[in-house]
Amino acid sequence: MHKEILERVLAFQKKTLKNNIDMVDCTIGTGAHSQILLEHVKNLKILGLDIDERMIKNLPQNITAKQDNFINFYKHKTLSDTKNFDIIFADLGYNINQVYDESYGLSYKKNSLLDMRYSQSIQHTAADLLNNRSQQELREIFYHYGNIHKANQLAKIIIDNRQKEKFERANQVVDILNELSMGDQIMKTFQALRIAVNQEINNLNLFLEKVQSQQIVDKQLILIITFHSLEAESVQKFIMKFKKQFSMKTIKPSEDEIKENPRSRSALLFEIINKSI
Ligand SMILES: C[S@@+](CC[C@H](N)C(=O)[O-])C[C@H]1O[C@@H](n2cnc3c(N)ncnc32)[C@H](O)[C@@H]1O
Repeated sequence: MHKEILERVLAFQKKTLKNNIDMVDCTIGTGAHSQILLEHVKNLKILGLDIDERMIKNLPQNITAKQDNFINFYKHKTLSDTKNFDIIFADLGYNINQVYDESYGLSYKKNSLLDMRYSQSIQHTAADLLNNRSQQELREIFYHYGNIHKANQLAKIIIDNRQKEKFERANQVVDILNELSMGDQIMKTFQALRIAVNQEINNLNLFLEKVQSQQIVDKQLILIITFHSLEAESVQKFIMKFKKQFSMKTIKPSEDEIKENPRSRSALLFEIINKSI
């Protein structure tokens, strides 16, 4: 979606005739999106945020970034020292480097510790959820965030198994799924745990609330890339609620991009514009 983001930022600059544009990249990750924008858009200043302190440490030197949850984006001043950002960008979910790095415990393939937190500042690991949440709470996590059909059965076996042995490593979950003949749902189960641990949907909803209250005071462009149907649903609900204030377009990745990066197949870019622009 690099090209699509760049096109929209350039169009925004042209339309608003703003000489200086201040943007917040709420999920700076490796800085790839921001680097392209900085190379191609004149007079653009970007403040990057990421909840993951490890991502912030590894950024290229020309990128200014701070460690924070994007629900707090509005508390940060722009790099021009003004109060409001002209462009708010969020590329949701995880970065592939976080999956490759075993210390995050995001991959079910490596029998790593069941951590899954994007940041040490997040309170509960996946093991904490598996060892402490009630059957009903676990069922809801698997059902809502993973669309797991036998969510209740899975939650019940987890409760039974943890009486004998606490959950620590990925293979303990993988083994249960295989025993239940749910080997085809391993990825979805890990996805559900990841979303719950990092409170991804709650954070997105809080972020959207803040975007809405900021929008009242300023003209802004909001760009959000979602990867999960629940994320897309949250953004759509938000637009429906404030449709007098915002207009929205959705953009899908091109076939070429999907070929190059198969993960982009589930990506959806939401371009949200204040109708007064
Ligand atoms: C899809 S990646 C972003 C990739 C980035 N656009 C790039 O060009 O590399 C998502 C990033 O969002 C971060 N993240 C997830 N939840 C967050 C939150 N609540 N606040 C801030 N960053 C978050 C993750 O740590 C990850 O680095």
